[in-house]
Amino acid sequence: MPNILVIHGPNLQLLGRREPETYGTMTLDAINQQLENLARELDAHLRIEQHNSEGGIVSLIAEAMDWADAILINPAAYTHTSVAIRDAVAASGLPAVEVHLSNIHKREEFRRHSFIAGVASGQICGFGVQSYLLGLRAACNLCSSSHS
Ligand code: DQA
Repeated sequence: MPNILVIHGPNLQLLGRREPETYGTMTLDAINQQLENLARELDAHLRIEQHNSEGGIVSLIAEAMDWADAILINPAAYTHTSVAIRDAVAASGLPAVEVHLSNIHKREEFRRHSFIAGVASGQICGFGVQSYLLGLRAACNLCSSSHS
């Protein structure tokens, strides 16, 4: 059974109330529930974390080296700013799937660049909660292909 670390970045605890025209009305708890339901189907174990601080995310990724098989991450605003999170993902050596609720490529110019994308296995964005669910499927597939 693959162990997947799910990381929600800053401000995502506000989902449901935060800019619903961009991020939808689903709460973070509801997204996590859908992830847990899918994980059961895929026979995966999730540890789900939300952090507003960059250092908290960096530490989580470093600790994951000891137990996780893959990372599913929505780095939120740190996507566009954080060399530290990029380096943490690279240092972990774990396959990572980057997800975003919104399509970051059709929003403001500054959101088009992701520091994480270059060290992730892939990026899924623009599909709301489905970005996370597709991302979880991708992460599980990466784990099974690394075991075969
Ligand atoms: C986001 C997109 C980011 O640009 C933004 O800073 C977020 C959420 C998304 O899921 O669409 O906080 O990662």
